[in-house]
Amino acid sequence: MPDIHASHKLIIVTGKGGVGKTLLAAALARLSAGSGLNTVLVTLDTRDDRHPLLNVPLEYAPYQVEPRLAASRVDAFEAVSEYARKTMPFSMFYEGFFKSGTFRDFATAAPGFEDLMCLGKLYNLATESEFDRVIFDAPATGHFRQLLEVPGVTARAVQVGPLNHNARKIQDLLLDADRTHVLVAALAEEMPVREALEIVDACSALRMSVGPVLINRRVPLPLSDLESASLSDLLARETSVSEPVAAAIAASKQAASIAASQERALEPLRQRRLRTLDVPQVVQSSFAVDDLLAEVGAALQPLMEERP
Ligand SMILES: Nc1ncnc2c1ncn2[C@@H]1O[C@H](COP(=O)(O)OP(=O)(O)OP(=O)(O)O)[C@@H](O)[C@H]1O
Ligand SMILES: [Mg+2]
Repeated sequence: MPDIHASHKLIIVTGKGGVGKTLLAAALARLSAGSGLNTVLVTLDTRDDRHPLLNVPLEYAPYQVEPRLAASRVDAFEAVSEYARKTMPFSMFYEGFFKSGTFRDFATAAPGFEDLMCLGKLYNLATESEFDRVIFDAPATGHFRQLLEVPGVTARAVQVGPLNHNARKIQDLLLDADRTHVLVAALAEEMPVREALEIVDACSALRMSVGPVLINRRVPLPLSDLESASLSDLLARETSVSEPVAAAIAASKQAASIAASQERALEPLRQRRLRTLDVPQVVQSSFAVDDLLAEVGAALQPLMEERP
């Protein structure tokens, strides 16, 4: 059974900083659009004004990248003023206030406020918009875990009224295994694996649908066991090898040692019997972003339900 099926409205990609979340999310978004679903790729990342791979502007209003694929950067304050416009009479009188420094200072000081507003917008995009699916290029481990807590904390702190109602709706979506699925990305290195386990545990504690762990930048073993054995045989028989052959042997030994150290780093996941999916390290020319996305997409394809 593929992990992601057509009913999934929200696919979350998270993991340690720098492990490839943005690339993996973009590749998934392309696959999702390719499977016929109107998809929006969402980030909260304020570092760039353009998507680093899709090369389109990142704004609050979803920007159409190609047919069935849009990209958007969600911002808490834009979300609040949009909410006010939709729900409050005469909201044009205080729309400026929601974007003002005074309101920003107040809201930034309120714990969880910005996170809740961003999650609210994700909820809208996933359930009440023209999009069939949101792919969320989510923040890294610490901030992501905080995001998961916010709706529950809010609903407990404010027991009645619209804030409670909205926090509950968001919580219901996040925890609904039929609508939301979490993919945790890691590299085959100690810290990314440790953080991946931390996220898997946090999601499992909330009974969220999560998995497999995406092991990005995998270096394949250069030679099969049989090929290594034949090479050792050959070397045992030859007294001297030519320079290019010696260089090829050294390169293959180095790649084998990287592959072995990656395998050791994955041991904690193996011990927990967690499913993993390898995504290869792509050797790319600086211009070939589409090739990069296509190669990563091919590795992620097994996650997706076949095109109907
Ligand atoms: N499998 C891969 N093959 C080749 N390049 C990769 C691969 N995975 C990631 N990269 C490159 O590594 C860099 C970091 O990846 P990316 O920006 O997706 O990570 P991130 O997890 O989103 O980082 P951050 O936490 O800072 O947002 C990018 O330049 C990306 O293109
Ligand atoms: Mg990123």
